[in-house]
Amino acid sequence: MKFKNKVVLITGSSRGIGKVTAIAFAQEGAKVVINYVKNKVAAEKTATEIKNLGGEVLVIQADVASEDDVKRMVEETVKKFGAIDILINNAGIVWDIPVFTKTVEQWERTLRVNLIGAFLCAKYAIPHMENRQGVSITNISSTNGIDTLSPDSTDYDASKAGMISLTKNLSQALAPHIRVNSVAPGWVDTEINKNLPKEFIKSETEKIALGRFGRPEEIAKAVLFLSSEDASFITGSIIVVDGGYK
Ligand SMILES: NC(=O)c1ccc[n+]([C@@H]2O[C@H](COP(=O)([O-])OP(=O)(O)OC[C@H]3O[C@@H](n4cnc5c(N)ncnc54)[C@H](OP(=O)(O)O)[C@@H]3O)[C@@H](O)[C@H]2O)c1
Repeated sequence: MKFKNKVVLITGSSRGIGKVTAIAFAQEGAKVVINYVKNKVAAEKTATEIKNLGGEVLVIQADVASEDDVKRMVEETVKKFGAIDILINNAGIVWDIPVFTKTVEQWERTLRVNLIGAFLCAKYAIPHMENRQGVSITNISSTNGIDTLSPDSTDYDASKAGMISLTKNLSQALAPHIRVNSVAPGWVDTEINKNLPKEFIKSETEKIALGRFGRPEEIAKAVLFLSSEDASFITGSIIVVDGGYK
């Protein structure tokens, strides 16, 4: 088991990529914190799945955009499990609407959840990671933060570009003790994409060399690799997992 007794905090792990990543960590022996903002039922279901696998799990409602919530989430994690070994900043939102119909409030919310939320989680988790071995942070960014142009999600793309910059800067600030990396997924089959028009999905799928959207499990594998000792000489890196999107 690669993560026996490691404490892993995964934001936005009630559903989608975060959920599958949490289950994958639990299967490797980790103690897992499931975080959600609204969907208690989904979070409890994920926790039950982990308990049924024999895993240890704690469910915490917290909005990563709120500094008070993040502080409380870290405190509750440390109270239950004693420390934090691995932080996965995964919580994210998107509004796919024409760029100039977006409000300032929507821009601010996107940046607060996707980017400032990742910063806050790192800020409050780091003091509890400092005296541990094999500690790391992995940020789930997106190919939209690198070179995919998508005007309807300009605010999202900016938040993910910011997350990549955050990753690189934190990797320098926290070296040599804490490694910081990012996984940048392309299209993945989760609820975040549930309102995309069928024709758009078809045309986007044609741009993917492997001819399909990714599965959350395929993102989780990259996250577990970066969090493991197999990646002991990797920090400040961005791993693209997009099936060869052009
Ligand atoms: N799917 C893709 O195609 C894709 C591609 C590239 C990058 N990504 C990134 O991968 C990450 C996960 O995406 P996904 O596809 O798994 O999305 P998803 O299925 O929509 O799940 C989003 C998760 O984030 C949580 N969340 C949302 N806002 C939050 C907040 N303010 N505080 C705490 N948790 C919050 C949700 O909790 P509730 O259940 O309570 O709502 C849920 O657990 C995101 O950062 C996304 O940008 C996804």
